[in-house]
Amino acid sequence: GTRRRWVERRHDIDAFTPGLLSLYESLKPSEEHKAKQRQLIESLTKSVIKEWPNAQLHLYGSCANSFGTSHSDVDVCFEIDIASEDTAQVVLTLAGTLHKDGFHNVEPITSARVQIVRMTDPGSGFSCDICINKFFAVANTKLLKDYAQIDERLLQLALIVKHWAKLRGVNETFRGTLSSYAYVLMCISFLQQREPKILPCLQAMEPTYIMVVDGTECAYFDEVHQLQDFGAENKESIAELLWAFFHYWAFDHDYRNDVISVRTGNTISKQEKNWTTRVGNDRHLICIEDPFETSHDLGRVVDRQTIRILREEFERAASILQYDDDPCVALFEPY
Ligand code: GTP
Ligand code: MG
Repeated sequence: GTRRRWVERRHDIDAFTPGLLSLYESLKPSEEHKAKQRQLIESLTKSVIKEWPNAQLHLYGSCANSFGTSHSDVDVCFEIDIASEDTAQVVLTLAGTLHKDGFHNVEPITSARVQIVRMTDPGSGFSCDICINKFFAVANTKLLKDYAQIDERLLQLALIVKHWAKLRGVNETFRGTLSSYAYVLMCISFLQQREPKILPCLQAMEPTYIMVVDGTECAYFDEVHQLQDFGAENKESIAELLWAFFHYWAFDHDYRNDVISVRTGNTISKQEKNWTTRVGNDRHLICIEDPFETSHDLGRVVDRQTIRILREEFERAASILQYDDDPCVALFEPY
């Protein structure tokens, strides 16, 4: 259930905006970092093209959705014309090729839900995950990138929230907390619901972009250069928004009934999604609808114990922003 609690925002919250903005600037990847990423893609392409001349490489995840930091890994999707049941074999062959070509720590992972090759680039030291034919990830990468171009406060909020989540240990899906992707969707959804709105709902607008993935249409308005002034009426600063974001997740979100939905620009009910009872391991304790794979709850990894940890962390962050004299120190204290 909820613990709705009205807290009046401290009057001097905006004093923390300059500190948060300089943190944001320091998180953005440098030009040097981006150049190293391009180099990695180049050597990877060279290596792969010998074996699979018709293959294409797509960047996805935070190296392409603009929510990357200098600590982000590189995610690559390998497009190749094979039947899905041959994926494991391709993963093994690809791992062999990359190892032979001098990439470090090459590891084929064929037991996980998503089969990948994981490796380290010796030139940059970056860790890199390569998946095969995961086009939903390519589509949602473009969606996130387009949202990021509408109002810079999205990037500011999301990079700071991701940084917080990593330091506080709540950005680890294998331990039952949320992915970076889930946090970015939480930020988009939050900004879609501010009054006045800071972000529109691109999937509710006339589609100008359509990509079909496994029979599902991924369609939305992608001419975002036309939306540059969308959020201009809302004057909230990053400190105000960060405060409100944590307060929402600490006290206002209805965990029992609501699903966060970037697709609709609103919250929708668990009832309507049939996410009310546990199916297999999916518990739906915090519900974040994937914008394209709508049967997918990004909160499915969260269990009874980690939902408690998450909510305690949201409450901790909210109260630090409310009461602390120097919130940036405590907020990002490693757990
Ligand atoms: P960092 O690496 O932490 O900077 O962020 P990231 O956005 O790259 O996150 P991550 O490496 O966890 O995931 C990479 C990408 O995979 C995401 O940006 C999404 O495009 C995609 N992705 C991750 N999890 C899911 C999921 O559960 N469903 C779908 N459809 N895509 C996902
Ligand atoms: Mg990544």
